Amino acid sequence: MLLLYFFIVLFVNNSYAAKPKNVIIIVADDLGFNDVSYRGSTEIPTYNIDALAYNGIILNNYRTPPLCTPSRSSLMTGKYPHHLGMQHFVIPSDEPWGLSPSEKIMPQYFKDAGYVTRMVGKWHLGFFEEQYTPNNRGYDSFFGYLGPYIDYWDYTLNMFDRNFSRGYDMRENQTINRNIPPNKYATELFTEEAVKVITTHDKKKPLFLVVNHLAPHAGNEDVPMQAKQEDIDKFSYIEDIKRRTLAAMIYQLDKSVGEIVKALKDNNHLDDSILIFYSDNGGPTTGIHSTAASNYPLRGQKQSGWEGAIRTNAIVYAPSLPKAVVRNNLFYIADWLPTLKTIAGANFKINTKIDGIDQTKMLYNNRELRNELVTIDDVFGFGSYIFNGLKLVNGSSSNGQFDSWLGSNNNTNAVDDKAYMENLLLSPVAKSIKPPITLRNIDRMRSSAKICCTKEKNKQSCDLLKGPCLYNLNDDPCEENNIANRNKILFSFMLLKYKNSLADLVPTRRKQSDPKCDPVHFNYTWNAWQQNS
Ligand SMILES: *[C@@H]1O[C@H](CO)[C@@H](O)[C@H](O)[C@H]1NC(C)=O
Ligand SMILES: *[C@@H]1O[C@H](CO)[C@@H](O)[C@H](O)[C@H]1NC(C)=O
Ligand SMILES: *[C@@H]1O[C@H](CO)[C@@H](O)[C@H](O)[C@H]1NC(C)=O
Ligand SMILES: *[C@@H]1O[C@H](CO)[C@@H](O)[C@H](O)[C@H]1NC(C)=O
Ligand SMILES: *[C@@H]1O[C@H](CO)[C@@H](O)[C@H](O)[C@H]1NC(C)=O
Repeated sequence: MLLLYFFIVLFVNNSYAAKPKNVIIIVADDLGFNDVSYRGSTEIPTYNIDALAYNGIILNNYRTPPLCTPSRSSLMTGKYPHHLGMQHFVIPSDEPWGLSPSEKIMPQYFKDAGYVTRMVGKWHLGFFEEQYTPNNRGYDSFFGYLGPYIDYWDYTLNMFDRNFSRGYDMRENQTINRNIPPNKYATELFTEEAVKVITTHDKKKPLFLVVNHLAPHAGNEDVPMQAKQEDIDKFSYIEDIKRRTLAAMIYQLDKSVGEIVKALKDNNHLDDSILIFYSDNGGPTTGIHSTAASNYPLRGQKQSGWEGAIRTNAIVYAPSLPKAVVRNNLFYIADWLPTLKTIAGANFKINTKIDGIDQTKMLYNNRELRNELVTIDDVFGFGSYIFNGLKLVNGSSSNGQFDSWLGSNNNTNAVDDKAYMENLLLSPVAKSIKPPITLRNIDRMRSSAKICCTKEKNKQSCDLLKGPCLYNLNDDPCEENNIANRNKILFSFMLLKYKNSLADLVPTRRKQSDPKCDPVHFNYTWNAWQQNS
């Protein structure tokens, strides 16, 4: 009897022994919707990102929260930020709060399924106590910074609105990392580390790797736009020097995607990997940390309820997934946790109520699985609510400053179509993936990913300072025609649904600045400055 049991266990275990797929997540920081070239304009050519898109699935109705910390907390937990108390603003490095350590997060889940879990780049989910930091939250290793951003060359964070010392914010695991070669550009540093992780990975175990780039977020307020001069020179056709520098920052981001895919290919990992690329939120055209990013033709920008804040570029590629398709179904960042679990074949349990939906059937069969989505910052008093293609936008985040179409629509093409295709096919991503992409597929995907604004002639305007507005996203993705006054019943219905969806909102965890954080007390580094409670 015992022997029989033994054989059954052996058999069952073996039948489940198919190794789960590697999961590689690459996150861009503040990349604008119009700052990649797979949707049309080649003002800023992104050949590697585009090649990944054309080989995989363009998630053309991808949504995130409108700011960094909320966005990252949602990816990690599969929940809405407002179910975590993480919906308001971001974590400035002097504030003692973060994502609750009682939340189980993605690397912990994947660790349960036998993965090696690694993280490179930005954390930004809290570090005032050690228990909030990546190595205590399921990551086997961490190479990066804990705060919102750093200088691209010297890795310091300087809070422009405080009197603290400038502090170094780069570590490996829990110790300050002083072993960085001088004059190393951050995007290249993180890329080299990601390539090293892939190259040295022990194939017996699946790999869970998150690469949270600094790029193309601004550096410190005193020198916000930082790129290598040789890269800036490549974009001399962009007149605005700020946008030209942004293009150079994105150039390195794109190159990073190429090198990561090539490393996966060269080390025989690509066939059993799933790759995701997306931006944490929309680009900032104006205001704090602005980079001349463009979300055109979408309305608004980072830190608002508009599409320019929450509709971002996103791609998923895996040899096991459909190739060369554009999916127009709604997909929310929180959906990754259950979706990746399924498509990677990772054996873990999610024992808590999450907001993420398993979108596997959408990816494979175009099934419509999500029809609702909530965005809220209840303290600033802005947000939006999407339901069955309708969208309610409520509250202005910056006294109207972010409420119009802000980004560059200059769309100067860097190259003609022929040169675009040639460069694309020469990119490391295109060369790593077989069979090669066909020109017909590229054309088809470029045109179906394009955003067509409303044809309505009699457009009704919107003033969020006066009240909420309503849009039909199916005909009006650019939020040009406010239908609130023409559809009073629908408008009241949406307002009610929105309020109801916020019934279980958890109050913000945000805390006041604590001057004890000052890097002057820690040899000019940013550090956990309180004892675990
Ligand atoms: C960080 O942790 C990883 C995994 O344990 C280890 O391989 C690496 O050597 C550590 N790095 C440092 C600087 O301790
Ligand atoms: C910084 O120091 C200056 C000069 O002492 C003071 O006027 C200012 O209020 C301080 N700012 C903050 C944010 O503490
Ligand atoms: C809508 O915005 C107003 C103004 O900011 C705010 O007072 C109100 O609470 C918001 N409503 C919802 C449901 O978020
Ligand atoms: C668009 O780009 C062209 C060529 O660089 C330049 O002449 C023009 O001023 C730009 N327009 C805007 C609105 O930036
Ligand atoms: C303080 O930082 C400097 C580098 O800025 C380093 O050389 C020195 O070893 C550090 N001191 C301590 C006690 O860690």
